[in-house]
Amino acid sequence: MNTSISSHPGAAIVTGASSGIGRVYAQHLAARGHDVILVARREDRLRRLATELAGRHGVGAEVLVSDLSKPEDVARLEDRIESDASISMLVNNAGFSALKPVTQTPDETIAKMIALNVTALTLLSKAAIAAFTSRGRGALINIGSGAGFAPYPGIPVYGATKAYVYLFTQSLQSEVEDTPVRVQLVLPGAVVSEGWEVAGGNDLEPLPPEIVMSTEDLVRAALRGLDLGERVTAPSVQDEALLRAYEAAGSRALQGAFDATPAARYAEP
Ligand SMILES: NC(=O)c1ccc[n+]([C@@H]2O[C@H](COP(=O)([O-])OP(=O)(O)OC[C@H]3O[C@@H](n4cnc5c(N)ncnc54)[C@H](OP(=O)(O)O)[C@@H]3O)[C@@H](O)[C@H]2O)c1
Repeated sequence: MNTSISSHPGAAIVTGASSGIGRVYAQHLAARGHDVILVARREDRLRRLATELAGRHGVGAEVLVSDLSKPEDVARLEDRIESDASISMLVNNAGFSALKPVTQTPDETIAKMIALNVTALTLLSKAAIAAFTSRGRGALINIGSGAGFAPYPGIPVYGATKAYVYLFTQSLQSEVEDTPVRVQLVLPGAVVSEGWEVAGGNDLEPLPPEIVMSTEDLVRAALRGLDLGERVTAPSVQDEALLRAYEAAGSRALQGAFDATPAARYAEP
């Protein structure tokens, strides 16, 4: 077996690795032989996970305590991605939601949500595709949400941040066309995690169990989608044709949005 450095899968950064989906990504990537760089704010949890993964899989496991709603912490991670040639994967997973109408959401919460879900994800994606294309290998995985497909009552800002992730990540795919670099957009539906508690969802009726996926099933399916070469992986969407139809309708609306002549319905009566 070739055990040279070039056959090593490299290091994977997982943001939001202290719980939920990110934690399970870190476990699976370590099991696949990646060294892992675990990013979140709760250091105790990250350290416990690092010890577990290093012990179980014999991989390097590093903790980078960061608040990715803060520009200085995002810049530090961008520098690391650019300067550390061992990094071959970034999972942009950290994110949060608030289940509230926009008028009842504090300004600070809105600003933090956009800073984390949008700004950090954008800057880290940029650093990753620049570094990966220059190194000739790498995979960027951005975690969007089914909530970004259409307006969903109660999560106006969150849904819009995930609609951003949908468009932004798909746009990036054209920037890595004809390179070995991979960009995958993952669209979970409803997944059991602490994210619901963070969002304030504990005050609501529990979701019917038949629509809620486990973090384990979600991450397994998402990594299978990556292995299959998918650009967009939506594990809960049973009918793949629905995804294709949504994409096709978006492309048609984009084309239809450009015309020098106002549509006939706007003619003066
Ligand atoms: N659960 C769902 O139903 C669902 C559905 C669709 C999409 N998603 C998306 O999946 C991703 C993971 O969510 P989850 O459900 O696994 O939620 P979760 O269990 O609450 O995990 C969120 C992770 O993000 C980290 N995080 C939060 N704020 C951060 C900050 N300012 N800086 C750095 N890290 C931060 C948290 O760690 P610390 O608190 O330690 O910082 C935690 O590790 C999110 O992007 C979410 O929008 C979730």
